[in-house]
Amino acid sequence: MSYNLLKGKKGIIFGALDENSIAWKTALRVHEEGGEFVLTNAPVAMRMGQINKLAEQTGSQIIPADATSLEDLEALVEQSMEILGGKIDFVLHSIGMSINVRKGKHYTDQNYDWTQKGTDVSATSFHKVMQTLYKKDAMNNWGSIIALTYMAAQRVFPDYNDMADNKALLESIARSFGYFFGKDKNVRVNTISQSPTPTTAGQGVKGFDGFISYADKMSPLGNASALDCANYIVSMFSDLTKMVTLQNLFHDGGFSNVGVSNEVMEAFVKD
Ligand code: NAI
Repeated sequence: MSYNLLKGKKGIIFGALDENSIAWKTALRVHEEGGEFVLTNAPVAMRMGQINKLAEQTGSQIIPADATSLEDLEALVEQSMEILGGKIDFVLHSIGMSINVRKGKHYTDQNYDWTQKGTDVSATSFHKVMQTLYKKDAMNNWGSIIALTYMAAQRVFPDYNDMADNKALLESIARSFGYFFGKDKNVRVNTISQSPTPTTAGQGVKGFDGFISYADKMSPLGNASALDCANYIVSMFSDLTKMVTLQNLFHDGGFSNVGVSNEVMEAFVKD
C-alpha cells in the first residue's frame, strides 16, 4: 500500500547488495512512496551486478562509492545533487562488515588490522558520510539520516564479535553528529536497531540460525523482517517524524525489553 509519504523527496541509499538486503527493500518501498534516490554501494559489490535490476525497477541511477573513501563520498554527494536536481532529503546508511567475523577470528584473538578496517567500514564511514553532506551543505532543512544497528551495542551477544563495538561507535556518532546537524541545519539523525534478519551480513554471524529463532521466541511480536524495517525507515524519512532525533530506535518486536518469554522458559522446565 502506498501513502505517497515521500512524494517530492530526494535521497541516497547505501548498501543494497541483493534482494535480501534491508537497503534493497527500503529502496523499493521508498520508490512506492514517491521518493527519488541514487543507489550506491562499494565498487566490489557492484561487480556482482544485482543492483542494476533494482535501479531499473526504481528508475534510479547507481554511483559506486567506497564509504570509507572521502574522495568517493564527495563525488557521490555532488553527482547525486546533479542527478536529483537539488539538495538531499533522506540518507540511508545500511553498511556493515567485520573481517574478524568473516574469517572466524574470535573476539579474544583479534587481528587488529582487520578490526580497524571493520570499524572504518561499519562506523567511521557514517561520520564520513555525514561530514561530507554537512560540509557541502547538501541536506535540505528537515532532512532525515538513518543508520542501521544491532542491540549487541548495549548487551552481550558473544558471537557478534567486534561488530558489537562498531555498532556502539555508530550509535554514538549518530548522537554526536546529530547534535550539530540538528542545530545548524534542522536535520535529524537516528539509528534503527533491527531484529536479526536473514541477509548476507546477518548470516555471516556464527550461529545465526539459533540466534534468529531465539530472538523470534523472545519477542512478543516476533522478529521484524527486512520489509518491516523498510516501512519503519519510510516513516522516519517522512515529515510525520520530524521531531525525532539523536535516538537509537529499537525495531525488534519488543525483544529489547523482554527478560524471558514463556516459550524460552519452556525449554528449561523439566516435566
Ligand atoms: P547486506 O549484506 O545486504 O548489506 C551490507 C552492505 O554493506 C552491502 O551492500 C555491502 O556491499 C555494504 N558495504 C560493505 N562494505 C562497504 C564499503 N566499504 N562501502 C560501501 N558499502 C559497503 O546486509 P544487511 O543485513 O542488509 O545490512 C545492512 C545494515 O543492517 C548493516 O549495518 C547491518 O549491520 C545492519 N543490521 C543487520 C542485521 C541483520 O541481522 N541482518 C540486524 C541489525 C542491523
